[in-house]
Amino acid sequence: MSQSKSTVAVTNKIPDAGIKLFQDKFELKIGPTDRTLKAAELLSFVKGAAAILPLLGNKIDGRVMDAAGKQLKIVANYAVGYDNIDLAAAKKRKVIVTNTPGVLTEAVAEHAFTLLTAVARRIVESDKFLRAGKYKSWMPELLLGPQLQGKTLGIIGLGRIGSRVAEIGALGYGMKVIYFDRGKKDRELDKKIGAEAASLRKILTASDFISLHVPLTPQTRHLIGRVELATMKKSAILINTSRGPVVDEVALAAALQHKVIWGAGLDVFEFEPQFTPALKKLDNVVMTPHTASATHEARDEMAILAAKNIISVLAGQAPLTEVK
Ligand code: GLV
Ligand code: GLV
Repeated sequence: MSQSKSTVAVTNKIPDAGIKLFQDKFELKIGPTDRTLKAAELLSFVKGAAAILPLLGNKIDGRVMDAAGKQLKIVANYAVGYDNIDLAAAKKRKVIVTNTPGVLTEAVAEHAFTLLTAVARRIVESDKFLRAGKYKSWMPELLLGPQLQGKTLGIIGLGRIGSRVAEIGALGYGMKVIYFDRGKKDRELDKKIGAEAASLRKILTASDFISLHVPLTPQTRHLIGRVELATMKKSAILINTSRGPVVDEVALAAALQHKVIWGAGLDVFEFEPQFTPALKKLDNVVMTPHTASATHEARDEMAILAAKNIISVLAGQAPLTEVK
């Protein structure tokens, strides 16, 4: 007797590396390649699905789960962050939630340094300068910025990504690393790279560069606001590859405009895909469109991990990377 196949609803096209794992085991539904489904569209898109594979721009709450129906077993987020998913609503409905930790750690850590060095060495500003025909002669004080070696790197949030950024900073660039993660001490990391746990205030006052690696929670929303920015060194550079709302973006734009801090590198924004218009006019900010994990390797591995989570759960087995 042939059983009808379970439906897997993938909200947008993800790399084939993941898609091909589904083979013809499931009824596969794939959303548009170029835009996020509107909330109302999402409700009808997921109808009848046993598994939903959403992106971070899809808000998956109880309403979406109910729209899918009682056969829904898993929401496999195509991201390590899962602030877009209502975990309490999932638990209530016995829906398993998974994310993609580990596989994008390297890509995001590399991107944090891509932004940091781009801001410090004024790469985008320099490129614009050159293209505008302004390079007339070599000058000793043209486009100066801070060196990284010997400076203090403050990490806020010492998970996988924060730890990797700490290592690259210490081992690669010869930076002194201090970190804050709700009182956590990582003695192994301390020993390996000479890092030190510090208070949030110490991070703000002592760091030359600050990189954010916390998840978005009610506690981390606007963790960095006007007061925190004013507490930082005037020469400080702030890097955010975590979640936009961790920083009060209007306050940051004002701080950058008035040189309260030296610069910022942003991959995430408070109201994505929008961003505070004032940022557009500033040379001391470098921005990327939430592409920190956008390496071929990471995006393939994220697709594979999300697909494997779905395949396991729909086969009645344990998920690989459940979020609880
Ligand atoms: C991207 O922001 C992610 O959480 O994976
Ligand atoms: C992400 O994987 C983190 O723990 O930082």
